[in-house]
Amino acid sequence: MTSFVSDYSNKLILAPMVRISTLPMRLLALRYGADIVYCEEVIDFKILATTRYENKILGTVEYISSDETVVFRTCPEEKGKVVFQMASVTKLILSKSLHFFSRENDVSAIDINMGCPKEFSIKGGMGAALLTKPDKVKDILTTLVNGLSIPVTCKIRLLPKLEDTLALVKMIEGTGVAAIAVHGRLKEERPRHKNRNHIIKIIAESVNIPVIANGGSKEMRTYDAIATFLQETGCTSTMIARQAEWNPTIFRKEGKLPLLDVCKEYVTVALQYNNVHTNIKYCVLNMMHEDMDLEEGQRMLATASQEDISDIWGLRQYFQDLKASWKKKEMELFNTKIE
Ligand code: FNR
Repeated sequence: MTSFVSDYSNKLILAPMVRISTLPMRLLALRYGADIVYCEEVIDFKILATTRYENKILGTVEYISSDETVVFRTCPEEKGKVVFQMASVTKLILSKSLHFFSRENDVSAIDINMGCPKEFSIKGGMGAALLTKPDKVKDILTTLVNGLSIPVTCKIRLLPKLEDTLALVKMIEGTGVAAIAVHGRLKEERPRHKNRNHIIKIIAESVNIPVIANGGSKEMRTYDAIATFLQETGCTSTMIARQAEWNPTIFRKEGKLPLLDVCKEYVTVALQYNNVHTNIKYCVLNMMHEDMDLEEGQRMLATASQEDISDIWGLRQYFQDLKASWKKKEMELFNTKIE
């Protein structure tokens, strides 16, 4: 297997989602049928301020900030499939990140987020602010494509005029990116607005690189609905966000699994990789958003530690055993005598 994403055609992809697309969610998505998984967006200066650490106890590689937050964590299971999504601030920082990502083989591709409509992104000249700055887009993508040996992609939204969107995607194609993900909404539009599947189709027909269709979650409650979305957008690949956030078994050919089973599996994997309890809680509450009347949902609201969470899902013993195995490994690795 290659250590980079070798092809973006005919792929089911977990979308980048802040606080959701962390390692446990990415692993679940892969196990249930996703081919490629994007991490949450990380701003370039934030990743540059981290230290790389090989965690031999968990079997992971971690990028840790000075306050000990894990900014990005990966493991061999997602090698060749994990795309690091970045928001970029300045050319100088971008050039430094080139050096950063060339150094190790930890990520399998880089994506630049050009679709984020949030105020902090727009004010910082990132995300969807880039859609109307073609020179900057060209500069960023060309710098990355020329400087990296792994594939580079970007994720955009639509511009109000079709001809402007087409001019943008053709320019982007010319930079040598491996694929382009298109969310079929305008910068000002929200999930309740209709996704413009027909515009994605026109885009897919106008370029020669894979176009990854995005924005279809509203009508994609089943695996079979993915095929309809692909047909409507004329694409062979799709990137799924909200449906995967609510139940990552959306990628499963045989159909989604029951929510509580999936939540338990999510918690199992999250504990295995020592995910912080705030992130586990956030993801599980998002999965349970339509079922908050269930006892598990109400109990999740009151949790304040990994132990509290493990109790709800019948995983207390599992978590205790895990912690004991970490301790044992630590002793072995650092050659400390067990008292
Ligand atoms: C997002 N989205 C997003 N997009 C992106 O490029 N980088 C990111 O970090 C995030 N973060 C994020 C968090 C959450 C909780 C949601 C729901 C969405 C947007 C997302 O990737 C996607 O473009 C849209 O949600 C539309 O796709 P769906 O939801 O219709 O499949």
